[in-house]
Amino acid sequence: MRKNIVAGNWKMNTTLDEGVELANDINTLLKGKKVNCDVIICVPFTHLTSVNAVIEPELIGLGAENCSEHDKGAYTGEVSASMVKSTGATHVILGHSERRQYFGENNEQLLAKTHQALTNGLKPIFCVGEVLEERENGTYNDVVKSQVEALFSLTPEEFSKIVIAYEPVWAIGTGKTATAEQAEDMHAHIRKVVEEKYGNEIAENTSILYGGSCKPSNAKEIFSKPNVDGGLIGGAALQADSFMGIIEAFD
Ligand code: 13P
Repeated sequence: MRKNIVAGNWKMNTTLDEGVELANDINTLLKGKKVNCDVIICVPFTHLTSVNAVIEPELIGLGAENCSEHDKGAYTGEVSASMVKSTGATHVILGHSERRQYFGENNEQLLAKTHQALTNGLKPIFCVGEVLEERENGTYNDVVKSQVEALFSLTPEEFSKIVIAYEPVWAIGTGKTATAEQAEDMHAHIRKVVEEKYGNEIAENTSILYGGSCKPSNAKEIFSKPNVDGGLIGGAALQADSFMGIIEAFD
């Protein structure tokens, strides 16, 4: 059966010292607690090795927020999937709307990044989601379907390693959450799209996370929906207490 997951996306926040302290605080809060979901923190590249040193792998998984579509070589400033893997990380966020929007990442690049991640033993947390205009003009189901379909050249074995995160762009950092019903409808749609391509077993085993202004006060209702398997958390993941509050929404 699929896993419930609460993953933090720190984005471009925290200095190294602040990040290590935050990771340490989350680890301390989780120690000796029985929680009903996997916990992952996705941190800036610069923090991976140091954060890995203070978290216990049985309590917290570690992820990067991006990786290169290239294997290695003359790509100044880029960070490869094998470099990420060598820090001890297990996951990588790919296709976040901020990467698509501000850095022009397209489906072709995201497929190449996904291949890099999988080849190097990283699990992609693959983000999809419509912008406000697409929500308002009613094309959101088609938009998200085509974002998921970008991965459909993966083999079933490869696809079974993907975690999907549905993040409506209009809900990210805006304080405006999708309703639990809107999230459930989209997650059910995504699962159906996956099922049509890869069959019922893979679709049922794919974790689909919700992201966008998720907080301790709304997580429980959103996570209670049958097709919502957890969250990808931005702002509320930057404080150990509020991140913990979201983790505890799975009681
Ligand atoms: P917020 O939780 O800050 O809205 O961000 C969501 C997000 O983009 C996580 O990847």
